[in-house]
Amino acid sequence: MAKRGILLALEGVDGCGKSTQAELLASALRERGLEVVLTCEPTDSPLGRQIREYFQGPDRYLSPKEELNLFMADRREHVTEVIDPALAEGKIVITDRYYYSSVAYQGALGLDPDRILAQNEVLSVRPDLTVILALPVAQALARLSGTPQRARQVSEDPAYLEQVATIYAGLQGPHLRHLDASDSAQAVHAALLSLTLEFLETAGGQ
Ligand code: TYD
Repeated sequence: MAKRGILLALEGVDGCGKSTQAELLASALRERGLEVVLTCEPTDSPLGRQIREYFQGPDRYLSPKEELNLFMADRREHVTEVIDPALAEGKIVITDRYYYSSVAYQGALGLDPDRILAQNEVLSVRPDLTVILALPVAQALARLSGTPQRARQVSEDPAYLEQVATIYAGLQGPHLRHLDASDSAQAVHAALLSLTLEFLETAGGQ
């Protein structure tokens, strides 16, 4: 039977540098001969694209519960179609956002974060390691405003993101790490890579 792979999730507020770090980490692990699948949420499926369009639109008209249901439906498909098959082939899966995004973002809309987590843990495969990139919201938004091609999203309201960041900051767990993301991309990458390699060594034989 194939060895089960490893699921790594990167989390953090919009603008914290997750996508850049996910790509740098995937390349560094591939250079070491490891098989890596780089993926993200919202996904690139029709539902994932619909969610992204909604967030790029001018209004946030769905209720928090409706939003949560959409993200969870997208996640279920993500797990079935992408994550589970790659893990069954023994690959390392890096996902740019996973269920702690629902905990933090839909939790910041007033839903109970513990309940969101419990619902997701039942429906989705648990990540072996989740790294939350921590960056003050003002810095994260400043990084985003330096990205001209990116449409401002309804989810990028500073007061809302402060609440999202507070929930992220309070998350604790044996497979959860907080990493300071305020340094240069290369410095954050070095820290993230070393943390990941250390984890893979202790996880056994990857
Ligand atoms: P984002 O990572 O910004 O996608 P992209 O960079 O491709 O536009 O995700 C879009 C937004 O979706 C982001 O503001 C966070 C939000 N989100 C949630 O509110 N809940 C979730 O469960 C997920 C996965 C994302």
